[in-house]
Amino acid sequence: MRIDIITVLPELLESPFGASIMKRAVEKGLVEVHMHNLRDYTDKSYNQVDDYQFGGGAGMVLMIEPIDKCISQLKSERDYDEVIYMTPDGETLNQRMANGLSLLNNVIILCGHYKGVDQRVRDAFITREISIGDYVLSGGELGAAILCDAVIRLIPGVLNNETSALTDTFQDDLLAPPVYTRPSEYKGMKVPDILLSGNFPKIEKWREDQAQKRTEKLRPDLLK
Ligand code: ADE
Repeated sequence: MRIDIITVLPELLESPFGASIMKRAVEKGLVEVHMHNLRDYTDKSYNQVDDYQFGGGAGMVLMIEPIDKCISQLKSERDYDEVIYMTPDGETLNQRMANGLSLLNNVIILCGHYKGVDQRVRDAFITREISIGDYVLSGGELGAAILCDAVIRLIPGVLNNETSALTDTFQDDLLAPPVYTRPSEYKGMKVPDILLSGNFPKIEKWREDQAQKRTEKLRPDLLK
């Protein structure tokens, strides 16, 4: 999978992609991530990429021209499955969307900033708008990092234990069952006996029951 991220703050995305699973996925060659600084696509002085909004009102708006130049250049090099815009008014990211996106080959992610982008960018270039939740961030970069993390870990070969993404919370619209590690007793708090029994069919059944109970208690909305 190839991901092209268009941003005015590439430095904000350096550390998420420089550590842990996302770094390993890049090193293994399972995903390519390319950052594009929008300021490299403007002819204006001081590398200006934003301007005041027509009609007045607080907040700057990212201009269409540098975004058009960047997206057009990328599209001239290869086909893209989606051009995603990170925005609080997009569809809210969930596991099902992450599963679907993990199957794509080439994706562009445009990060908004300030008041967002000129509406004509959304009308002309964007195929999908994604939000990471009902709150407003200062820009789309952290949302893009979260989206990429959720998607990249689902690409086959990225996780060491191939089955572990399948038992994640939300994968079957259920929360994950509780997990324990050594010691089996700590300050009087014991690990459930069943997990120490070695009876794997029974352990599996116990995990399914726990996932169901936890979901009923904490997220009944998922069961609807
Ligand atoms: N940009 C600003 N707020 C956002 C959000 N909640 N999700 C995605 N991108 C954003």
